[in-house]
Amino acid sequence: MKRYITTPIYYVNDVPHIGHAYTTIIADTAARYFRLRGFETFFLTGTDEHGQKIEEAAKKRGKSPKEYADEISAKFRNLWDEFEISYDKFIRTTDPEHIKGVQKAFEIMYNKGDIYKGTYEGHYCISCESFFPESQLIDNEFCPDCGKPTSIVKEESYFFRLSKYQDKLLELYKNEEKFVLPKSKKNEVIRFVEGGLQDLSITRTSFNWGVPLPESINDPKHVMYVWLDALLNYVTALGYGTDEKLMHFWPADYHLVGKDILRFHAVYWPAFLMSLDLAIPKHIATHGWWTRNGEKMSKSKGNVVDPKAVADAYGLENFRYFLLREVPFGQDGDFSQKALIDRINNDLGNDLGNLLNRIIGMSGKYFDFQVDSKDVEKFHAQELAEMQEIIDGLDALAEEMKWHRYLEELWKILTIANKAIDRYTPWAKMKEGKEDEAMALIALVANILAKAALLLHPVMPKTTQTIADALGFSIDKESFKKFVENRELLKSFTIKKVPPLFPKIEEPLMQEQKSQTKKEPTQPKSQDNVITIDDFFKVKIKVGTVVEAEEVPKSKKLLKLQIDLGEERPRQIVAGIKEFYTPSELVGEQVCVVANLKPAKLMGILSEGMILAARDENGLTLVGPKTRKKEGTPVQ
Ligand code: ME8
Ligand code: MG
Repeated sequence: MKRYITTPIYYVNDVPHIGHAYTTIIADTAARYFRLRGFETFFLTGTDEHGQKIEEAAKKRGKSPKEYADEISAKFRNLWDEFEISYDKFIRTTDPEHIKGVQKAFEIMYNKGDIYKGTYEGHYCISCESFFPESQLIDNEFCPDCGKPTSIVKEESYFFRLSKYQDKLLELYKNEEKFVLPKSKKNEVIRFVEGGLQDLSITRTSFNWGVPLPESINDPKHVMYVWLDALLNYVTALGYGTDEKLMHFWPADYHLVGKDILRFHAVYWPAFLMSLDLAIPKHIATHGWWTRNGEKMSKSKGNVVDPKAVADAYGLENFRYFLLREVPFGQDGDFSQKALIDRINNDLGNDLGNLLNRIIGMSGKYFDFQVDSKDVEKFHAQELAEMQEIIDGLDALAEEMKWHRYLEELWKILTIANKAIDRYTPWAKMKEGKEDEAMALIALVANILAKAALLLHPVMPKTTQTIADALGFSIDKESFKKFVENRELLKSFTIKKVPPLFPKIEEPLMQEQKSQTKKEPTQPKSQDNVITIDDFFKVKIKVGTVVEAEEVPKSKKLLKLQIDLGEERPRQIVAGIKEFYTPSELVGEQVCVVANLKPAKLMGILSEGMILAARDENGLTLVGPKTRKKEGTPVQ
């Protein structure tokens, strides 16, 4: 009985944001859940440190790649430590054992004839570290995944015979119904593979920051493609190719990934494993993206939320609950403080915290905190049965990583408890002298709370321990077995007072995001067109690069521009600047764009924003940054 759970290893070109925290917190919850159920569990996370993207990021900062990787890798590790993420190993792809294991794998695939030498010519996106066939490019140039320009790469390269594995992969998808979770995401993988798999270029000669080929192949100008190197971390972490003493954890039970990297995990990775004669992971569990105003949160877009700031302001465990409960697994979700506050005040405060307070209060008032469960079954068989049915359904939801559903169901047992209090009114029973009934009710609710605490423990480890303290038991494997699996009740126990778990939050606690939570338009404060900083922040101005420009036929004033704002695809903007600029002189220019303007049509052409310009009697000039800035950089 084992479970092996992984997160992606994160690139060190970026500091962690809530997207990374989300994946890691889901994986942590799963690991804690399986440990509590008694599985021998291994939980892996780490950083992905090779490749051209990292080499360039380091160079920009005047550092060596390793120096730079050390610095950012530590930021990830420190954040996970602060968040008490229960990983068993933090792997870095610059670890010597990892490098040896990757070389070993390369050698095996090469000796088997699955790797051969050839020439690669293709379009490469550095940002995604990925090649794309011409047919997939946007406007013959831009990356279909991130929208950035690709470059043509022609070089000698080693190839992996991916094409050879097409049928085997399709068979895998057919036989393993839950290979991709949620199941609905499998179709896009199948469509991709059915579209035809080309052999994969897996080495590069144009840069150095990567794993060299094994010495036996003796071709020192090549380094390995970063995705081959990266994916293999899942086995090298267990000692593959070096000291294999943890390999009994293989295959992985859950690779947690964001949907941006599903293809690598559901297509390339199983093909590599087939070539290596290693078992195929059980599940590629794929979640959606956290967005800000509908855009994927990412550093290059400048719209990231700092997970540490959220945890500091609202409490780490409340934040964990929110992340898991708010968004259905697999779907995208927009981050807002308002949604977070609602979850804390309603689900946690009203439904859970108040229930505990009521039990503490009533048990103290009526029974001097001494509770006995002996009559619970006699008076509350119905409630116990309803509760049990819900609890019995939870494991299947956890196994599919549907934590939003798991929590939703778990909350139903709290509803049973809250309703039971209102219905059986223990205060009235006491007046009528039916002490045994009042006691049974209080014991019922305390037992429901105890089971809820055990089942919620993987999501909120410390909070639930406090609940367990109040009810006089401790949270561990043994308790889980007794009270959840074997359906036992706490016998007689003493309730302890604890301070309120979820003090009500009255207003947003993070200053910089205030404008995000205010939906009502604010009134102008005076007659002089003075606006508040919040008003100003409603206008999202970003730096963009003009990638295409053309005249609008029959219009004297309008030009049609395609402007790269660092988004999936360039924005189309129609601007009245034809009298001042020719299309060709605009291409490559950087401009400031109002990015959240409601789209409009000008002469029947869609315009998705507005560019800024200054105009006086001498003419018009576009406004842009004084030195080149990354597309999407906010102007503040
Ligand atoms: O892709 N919402 O690393 P990476 C939700 N090194 N999750 C997000 C997110 C968002 N807005 N942004 C990032 C790589 N993530 C490779 C992985 S694995 C062998 C190699 C999370 O730093 C999500 O898990 O770009 C996504 O898949 C991952 O970070 C990408 O991290
Ligand atoms: Mg990425």
